[in-house]
Amino acid sequence: METPSPPLPLVCVTGGGGFIGSWLVRLLLSRGYAVHATVRDPGDAKNAFLMQLDGAPANLRVIKADMLDYDTVEAAFAGCEGVFHVATPVPEHKIVDPQKEIMEPAVTGTMNVLKASKDMKVHKLILVSSIAACIFNPDWPQDVIKDESCWSDKEFCKENENWYSLAKTEAEEMALGFGEKNGLHVNTFCPSLVIGPLLQHVVANTTSKVLLYILKGGPDMINNKFFSMVDVRDVAEALLLLYEKAMPSEIYLCALDQVDLKDLLGIMKPMFPNYSYADKMVDVDLNITFSSDKLRNLGWKPRKLEETLAESIESYEKAGLLQASNGELCRLPFFFRPPPVNECE
Ligand SMILES: NC(=O)c1ccc[n+]([C@@H]2O[C@H](COP(=O)([O-])OP(=O)(O)OC[C@H]3O[C@@H](n4cnc5c(N)ncnc54)[C@H](OP(=O)(O)O)[C@@H]3O)[C@@H](O)[C@H]2O)c1
Repeated sequence: METPSPPLPLVCVTGGGGFIGSWLVRLLLSRGYAVHATVRDPGDAKNAFLMQLDGAPANLRVIKADMLDYDTVEAAFAGCEGVFHVATPVPEHKIVDPQKEIMEPAVTGTMNVLKASKDMKVHKLILVSSIAACIFNPDWPQDVIKDESCWSDKEFCKENENWYSLAKTEAEEMALGFGEKNGLHVNTFCPSLVIGPLLQHVVANTTSKVLLYILKGGPDMINNKFFSMVDVRDVAEALLLLYEKAMPSEIYLCALDQVDLKDLLGIMKPMFPNYSYADKMVDVDLNITFSSDKLRNLGWKPRKLEETLAESIESYEKAGLLQASNGELCRLPFFFRPPPVNECE
C-alpha cells in the first residue's frame, strides 16, 4: 500500500491578485507550496487568472479578505505556517485624504496582519515594504550608498506630503517592533520600482503604468535621473529566498542600479522603435542608488534590465495596453512626477 504524501507547506499571500502578489503565488505553487491568496473581490474578472495558474486547482485557495477587517485576515491565515503580506494600495493619483487612502490600509492593515499572524501561530511573516521607506532621508551623506540601515525621515515625508513613504515607513517600523516584542519571525523587504510582464491582462498596476508612460509619452515631465528598477519575477524569487533563509528581524533592500532615463530610452528604442516615447524630461539631482548586496549574498541573482524591458513590453502588447486609446492622454502616475508639476495639480 502506498503511503500518502505529507501535506505541502501552507502559506498565505495577501493581495494575491496584484502585480507582485500574483507572481509570488505562481512561484510558490511551482516550488511545492500550497497557497491561500487573499483578494478583496474573488468575483472580479481581474482575479480569474489565479485559478488558471499551474497547480492552482489542487493547491491554491483564493480567499476573500480585506486587511482592514481583522476577522477576514485571521480566517485567511488558518493553518498557514507563513504569511507574505503584500496587500497595500500603490496610489496612482494625488492623495487627497492620506488617512483613508494610504495610512489606514498600510498601517492599520499591517497591524491586523501582525496580530492575526500571532493569534494564528504563523511562524514567519515577510512584509513587503518599499525603498520608499528607506530613501527619503535628507541627513544621509550624499556620497554614501544607502543600505538597510537607512530609513526615510517621517517628518521629512510629512513636510513633503509624501504620504506613501510615510505609510510604508511606519508600517515597516511597526512590523519589526511587533516581531521582536512578540517573538514573531518578521522580515521586511524593500524593492525599488517593480516592473515586468503582467500575469493578468485586465488592469495594469501603478508601476507598470510608469513604463507604459515612458513608451507612449504624454504631457507630464519625467525625471532624467530615474528610479532603480527590478523585475517582478526577481522580486518573487527574493521573497521566497527570504522566507527560506533570512534570520528574524532582518531587512533586505532589492534593486538594480539607478539608470538615467536617457540610457533607458537608449535600450528601449532600438528594441521597440514604433512607440512615441516620453520626451519631456527634467534634469534633477536625484541620487537614489542603494545597495542590494545583502540580498545578493543570500543568493539572489537578478536578470538583466534589457530582458525585463523586452518581456514587459511584449506582455503589454499582448494585453492590448499599447493600442491607440481614442484620444485619451496617457499620464504618468502622480507619485512619479517631479515636484513642480505636482504643485500645479
Ligand atoms: N510596484 C512597485 O514598484 C512596488 C515597489 C515597492 C513596494 N511595493 C509594494 O508591493 C506591494 C504590492 O504592490 P503592487 O505593485 O503589486 O500593486 P498592486 O498590483 O496594485 O497590488 C496591490 C494589492 O493590494 C491589495 N489591497 C489594497 N488594499 C487592500 C486592503 N485594504 N485589503 C486587502 N487588499 C488590499 C489590492 O487588492 P485589490 O485588487 O482588491 O485592490 C492588490 O491586490 C505593496 O505593498 C506595495 O507598497 C510595490
